[in-house]
Amino acid sequence: MNLHIVPLDPAQQKPVPKELGFGNVFTNRMFSQHYAPDQGWHDAKIGPYEPFLLYPATAVFHYAQEIFEGMKAYRRPDGHINLFRPWENMKRFNNSARRMAMPVIDEESHLEALMQLVALEHEWVPDAPGALYIRPTMIATDHALGVQASKTYLHFIILGPVGSYFKEGFSPVPVYISDTYRRAVRGGVGEAKTGGNYAASLLVGEEAKAKGYSQVLWLDALEGRYVEEVGAMNICFVYEGCKLVTPPLTGSILPGVTRKSVLQLAADLGYEAVEEPVDVHEMLAGVRSGYVTEVFGCGTAAVIAPVGKFGFRDEEYIINDYQVGPVAARLYQELTNIQFGRRPDPYGWTQLIAVK
Ligand SMILES: Cc1ncc(COP(=O)(O)O)c(C=O)c1O
Repeated sequence: MNLHIVPLDPAQQKPVPKELGFGNVFTNRMFSQHYAPDQGWHDAKIGPYEPFLLYPATAVFHYAQEIFEGMKAYRRPDGHINLFRPWENMKRFNNSARRMAMPVIDEESHLEALMQLVALEHEWVPDAPGALYIRPTMIATDHALGVQASKTYLHFIILGPVGSYFKEGFSPVPVYISDTYRRAVRGGVGEAKTGGNYAASLLVGEEAKAKGYSQVLWLDALEGRYVEEVGAMNICFVYEGCKLVTPPLTGSILPGVTRKSVLQLAADLGYEAVEEPVDVHEMLAGVRSGYVTEVFGCGTAAVIAPVGKFGFRDEEYIINDYQVGPVAARLYQELTNIQFGRRPDPYGWTQLIAVK
């Protein structure tokens, strides 16, 4: 990749914020490159974070041909920076691109550009437990209204320092189980990280919020019986304190990097860790009987998010007395210790970015 780095105008540099929210502050620089069939990917640059000029008829505004990724850069105790399994995100970005009829990117040079961007913005990586959120995105840019795959695309990466995803921090959250609406169906685009999946979830998200819940748990679209995933996380259940279960990847669930890591870590910690279908009625009966001892979401944004209660058809199901369970706490510790470089990484999951 022929990457052009535009010098930053010092007068336009923003100060690094002290207080961290989630997804509302962005760094000074961004990466961008363009695609056209006769040129391939071209004009790769790291320049100032600035608005795009796009015509109202630009394809992405009408048919949502768009994909993105979500990953983080973590500040290590020695001051250097870790990425966590970035190769998985590169692979998933290209899988999403193929599903949405978009051009793939070169994974290696994309990762190099991303690392260069993070290195340039290293001052923006907060100390733990904060992190620098990384959002690679690709949009269709043809200036035409025909329903067809665009010929031209824009790929960009933006960065923003983030604190805790939930206002509750690492403490249990209430989750609403949607019985009316469905997020994704097998054969659809549920396993791609594309904006439309999230747009489809917003109405129920608002409904859930109005009822006092912070997330929505989705059920399968065919029978409304099997648990799929939470809004921006995969979901795990602990049976009798020793068996960790997460729904299998059947095509309508996003294959989470955290999910994959949790399955491996849990197995290595001695738990039985399996992918198997979870019937919502059996699961809720298990919560009531105490067979289901813990429930937690897992994803890049929150890492591990314990679920304190489910709301389903006007009934409430309290999990583990609304307390953080030992399995969630252990996995959170193990995973964040690797991400932040506080313990050796026996898996080769981290990619170091040395800060000069
Ligand atoms: C719908 C959905 N499921 C699951 C996840 C978790 O994936 P990951 O662990 O790769 O962040 C995310 C977050 O990216 C998501 O948006």
